[in-house]
Amino acid sequence: EKSGYDYFMLKEIAEQPKAVADTLLGRIGADGALTLDEVRLPAAELREIDKVVMVACGTAYHAGLIAKYAIEHWTRTPCETELASEFRYRDPILDSRTLVIAVSQSGETMDTLMALRHAREQGAKVLAICNTNGSTIPRESDAVLYTHAGPEVAVASTKAFLTQLVACYLVALYLGQVRGTKWGDEVIAAIRELSAISTQVEEVLTTMEPVRELARSLADKETVLFLGRHVGYPVALEGALKLKELAYMHAEGFAAGELKHGPIALIEEDVPVVVVVPSPRGRSVLHDKIVSNIQEIRARGARTIVIAERGDTAVLPYADHLIEVPRTPVLLQPLVATVPLQVFACELATARGNEVDQPRNLAKSVTVE
Ligand code: F6R
Repeated sequence: EKSGYDYFMLKEIAEQPKAVADTLLGRIGADGALTLDEVRLPAAELREIDKVVMVACGTAYHAGLIAKYAIEHWTRTPCETELASEFRYRDPILDSRTLVIAVSQSGETMDTLMALRHAREQGAKVLAICNTNGSTIPRESDAVLYTHAGPEVAVASTKAFLTQLVACYLVALYLGQVRGTKWGDEVIAAIRELSAISTQVEEVLTTMEPVRELARSLADKETVLFLGRHVGYPVALEGALKLKELAYMHAEGFAAGELKHGPIALIEEDVPVVVVVPSPRGRSVLHDKIVSNIQEIRARGARTIVIAERGDTAVLPYADHLIEVPRTPVLLQPLVATVPLQVFACELATARGNEVDQPRNLAKSVTVE
């Protein structure tokens, strides 16, 4: 079943271009407009929505964090992203004009399920983004957008995450489309670029050998830090989570803008710091800020591992290791920037002699609290 791969995780990482393409399949019309009729979200209802709340756990929560940037940018609708386990015990302010989006690969995560019940009791509409047909979360939701990652066997989520991102972008763009917010050149261009993104994911996969080599060289380290800004921040959190669960190393993700508010005290000689750099095009302010963050940590002795867009020469002087990813629009970069971090964690786990597909203490679906 592993089709020649040593681990399911490696197989699932390799399946990502297809998983992404399958999740887009049939959802973008020939005219470049989205057709999400299967989701059963009537356009009239979507026009009434005045707030979106994403709820999820773990990796799915990171997809939700990225969705916030996309939804607010493309639809100008306020969006919050919350851990399901926090949301369900709060008194969130919800009504029939709130769209709650529950993201879950398995569709059985207890906290996410309870969060959606909590939301429905208060009259909110719930849309599930889910990978498992007929599971509990989609069954209890008003609408469902299935991701088509295929079965994910490895405990650490990889291809499901990329398809959750695709689903979040689709929802964001669809919302933009039906509400007419910013529905213009930018949204049309984003749909077009999203429809071609699996090629870029494929491209990243062909350049991973240096990442594996780097991972092996860090096998005896104790800590790895991850920094990002904007959509690169949840990518940093995801990189750190993968490393914790697979390599059992201390790993933490930070918003690069928070460095001076504490985390910079952790920087010492030779500590590896992975930095996710946004595209120098588009939001160039963000790019320049992060380049100066890299300079700052390197001046304090950090070993910088920089993930940047191909051709981004500004990072060259400060990157001890450079991982180049293809050009994408700013909001879509997580689809390519996450892949090297999955490969990195998987290879580090292997180098440390850990069981990749079944990390200690973890279960594939957390159906208890
Ligand atoms: C991390 C991982 C977990 C899951 C989380 C939610 O690699 O797999 O953090 O993402 O348990 O699971 P689902 O998506 O099934 O609700």
